[in-house]
Amino acid sequence: MYVCLCHAITDTQIKQAVSQGDTSLKDVKKRLGVGDQCGKCTKMAALIIEQQLELE
Ligand code: FES
Repeated sequence: MYVCLCHAITDTQIKQAVSQGDTSLKDVKKRLGVGDQCGKCTKMAALIIEQQLELE
């Protein structure tokens, strides 16, 4: 599922970023660029990061 339409970033890519060591929206933003344009995806991205961190 696409989370960030501006950069065509999926939930799977965000989960992979967490698996590779990212622990915050800031980290994932730096790695993938999620949320750095319109910003509409940041809440959803943060939720996915939080859920993935609980699974790690
Ligand atoms: Fe992610 Fe616009 S949808 S920055």
